[in-house]
Amino acid sequence: MYNITVNGQPFSTEVDADTPLLWVLRDEVNLKGTKFGCGIGMCGACTVHVDGRAIRSCITPIAAVAGSAITTIEGLSPDGTHPLQQAWIATQAPQCGYCQSGQIMQAATLLKDYPQPTDANIDAVMSGNLCRCMAYVRIRNAIKLAAGMPEAPHA
Ligand code: FES
Ligand code: FES
Repeated sequence: MYNITVNGQPFSTEVDADTPLLWVLRDEVNLKGTKFGCGIGMCGACTVHVDGRAIRSCITPIAAVAGSAITTIEGLSPDGTHPLQQAWIATQAPQCGYCQSGQIMQAATLLKDYPQPTDANIDAVMSGNLCRCMAYVRIRNAIKLAAGMPEAPHA
């Protein structure tokens, strides 16, 4: 049995040790905000926090996070008012939206490390989060808005 905390709530599971955390979150905890994109750690759609750090849940076995505190997009704030969520709405950052949970969870880590991120900081931390809709300019602007910085001119 593996015990984790998900968005502040204790959760226990008896899945196999190599079951990816993504499937525990989606199929057992029934939190569907975290998405499956590539399954090989290359797109970032499945990004969640483990003990406050962004990780790819599709390649993270449940055994590797036993005893850890997991935060998903549903738990980033109690009521959807995290500065990043507000900025995402204000800038209408998403297009199809599929990648955006992962983008926001990765951006939350970015702002912890770089409260006033430069473009280079954003590129370095966000480059592993792919967006097939090419919403990168709006995502960058949303991150800057959440950080209280001037947004870049729209391309
Ligand atoms: S689904 Fe996990 S990185 Fe793509
Ligand atoms: S908004 Fe469609 S994949 Fe990013």
